Amino acid sequence: MFITFEGIDFCGKSTQVELLKNYLQAKGKKVEVIREPGGTGISEKIRHILLDRENHNMFMETEILLFSAARAQVVRERIRPSLEKGIYVISDRFYDSSTAYQGFGRGISIEQILQVHRIAIGMTIPDITFFIDIPVEEAERRKNIKSGHELDRIEVSEIDFFNKVREGYLSLALQEKRFKVINGMESIENIQKAIISEIDKREFNEKAL
Ligand code: ADP
Ligand code: TYD
Repeated sequence: MFITFEGIDFCGKSTQVELLKNYLQAKGKKVEVIREPGGTGISEKIRHILLDRENHNMFMETEILLFSAARAQVVRERIRPSLEKGIYVISDRFYDSSTAYQGFGRGISIEQILQVHRIAIGMTIPDITFFIDIPVEEAERRKNIKSGHELDRIEVSEIDFFNKVREGYLSLALQEKRFKVINGMESIENIQKAIISEIDKREFNEKAL
């Protein structure tokens, strides 16, 4: 099963990815966790270029192509081989991040975004995508309390940019059946319960088929 987590920065994805991994492993499942951009030697090098604040003059076209290049590599090097072996793959961000950030956020046309996705991921589409939704003001609050965390090139963007990204996710959630919208303002425990209940429901339905 291929599970992805999406949402604006600081929505709580990494926290939930870790909890879900532990839950599935405790049930005896093999789990592979990936973070995007990254997950392979080549993809991590591309991540460094993408998040480096020195690269403030990066054009949006360069940005979408680099995120997609990192993704093309991790899809072929890790995601597909693991899925073929029946391993659960959990990814902290995947191609919906590019649609939301580079498409809705930066303004690249959705038609062009789809063309790039086709090359990068082909048919490797997640089975289920948890979109953890929080207002941008809450993201700002969490950003400010996380002292010591140095902000990367994208995290330093304006509030207006994150509002567009959030709107993008909400619009994707209306179009894509695989999207499950989770209220990120709930407690960590309640969010985990909601996620586990979706996963268990899906496994039950698959067994029944
Ligand atoms: P992301 O991976 O989406 O950037 P994190 O999981 O790193 O998010 O969480 C960002 C910050 O918000 C962390 O300080 C984390 O402890 C906190 N956090 C995570 N989930 C919640 C929640 N449900 N309620 C309040 N704070 C949360
Ligand atoms: P990361 O530190 O992994 O952020 P987070 O913990 O919020 O997931 O950095 C990834 C940053 O890159 C984040 O700001 C979102 C952005 N991003 C895009 O703009 N497009 C993409 O396709 C992906 C995968 C990430």
